[in-house]
Amino acid sequence: MKLSVPHIHKDDISYIRKVLKSQWISTSSKTVNNFENKLSSFCKTKYSVALNSGTSAIHLGLKILGVNHTCEVIVPSLTFIATVNPILYLGAKPIIFDVDRYHNLKINDVINFIKKKTIFKNNKTINKKTKKIIKVIIVAHMWGRACNFYELKKICKKRNIFILEDAAEALGSYVKKDKYKHCGSIGDLGCLSFNANKIITTGSGGAIITNNKNFYLKAQYLANQAKDDTFNYIHNECGYNYKMNSICAALGISQLKRLRKKISLRKNIYKRYVLNFKKTKNIEILSFENNTKNNYWMNVINFKKLDFKQTENISVGLSKKGIETRRIWRPLNLQIYLKKFQKVNIFNANNFYSSCLCLPSDDNISKADVDKISKYIKKIYETINNH
Ligand SMILES: Cc1ncc(COP(=O)(O)O)c(C=O)c1O
Repeated sequence: MKLSVPHIHKDDISYIRKVLKSQWISTSSKTVNNFENKLSSFCKTKYSVALNSGTSAIHLGLKILGVNHTCEVIVPSLTFIATVNPILYLGAKPIIFDVDRYHNLKINDVINFIKKKTIFKNNKTINKKTKKIIKVIIVAHMWGRACNFYELKKICKKRNIFILEDAAEALGSYVKKDKYKHCGSIGDLGCLSFNANKIITTGSGGAIITNNKNFYLKAQYLANQAKDDTFNYIHNECGYNYKMNSICAALGISQLKRLRKKISLRKNIYKRYVLNFKKTKNIEILSFENNTKNNYWMNVINFKKLDFKQTENISVGLSKKGIETRRIWRPLNLQIYLKKFQKVNIFNANNFYSSCLCLPSDDNISKADVDKISKYIKKIYETINNH
């Protein structure tokens, strides 16, 4: 029983076959445009740019928002490493913040930091400690649980700070203000991933979604080698080869058709886990904020009283029964090469890392599977806890 694996259907294969037969397999084709249009209409954004990974989407996104070596970017501690690396690609520095009980950026900590630890001068927010410009905040929607950051958005507007949403895990997740808005469409620019373990996949792939025409045009330009004149090969900027190819886009178009169905399957898995652990003391299934709708990509369990090794022992015990589990992302502040960067009050992320595991959440997991997994977890937990 797996955490989350790709599901390739007959339809997917026939879409791909059609593209292969057409010979139009490159990055500039109707199929890629078509996938971009379908993404925009699903996420209700004006624009989408299909790319070859979520990591390149974040890299390009930060570049477009003006991040360079004079800048700092605020990031949550508990996230996949690809949230932070693109900051370093651009020569900028991350400032790492804690997460809340839903594993998302602790919005109040960031607001307090901006109010108390920065100054606003020449339309720039400057970190008092490092004298660097805080240019962007990355809000990640962890495990598909949407982060409600509307309060932060208000202060960012006043302070000329952009918000990039890392919605790599959150296709099909929403935050409500007046109405529900798709994750990635609330900040200045959103990044998606269609990696093989995501809720839908293109093998590898990603996208930028945005309502800002300039950001969109710049993303298309830079992702396609910054071509100013295709006949004479004139490039006036340093571009990237980041666009998605047509074969991946065909898979994306086909997979997108099943997204709603997949979310509903995964919702049932989540509900069953919650039911099974409702009465279990000191064991909690990760929930989500009010006013959000989620894609239930990944379920996470927290053994509140277990230490690092005991949590690992649960995983080892489950693995013997053919049940795959993994730790949650290692907090960025604990990664050796990131230790030198500024951190702000990190507490929850370290605790969660020690006592949480990701649980099988794949479309194929039945109610009976969830019951079996839950039964084994309780059994192994009892043994470990009584020692
Ligand atoms: C939170 C987060 N950000 C970024 C990425 C990077 O996406 P990709 O693997 O498509 O480069 C992923 C997934 O892999 C992710 O989970």
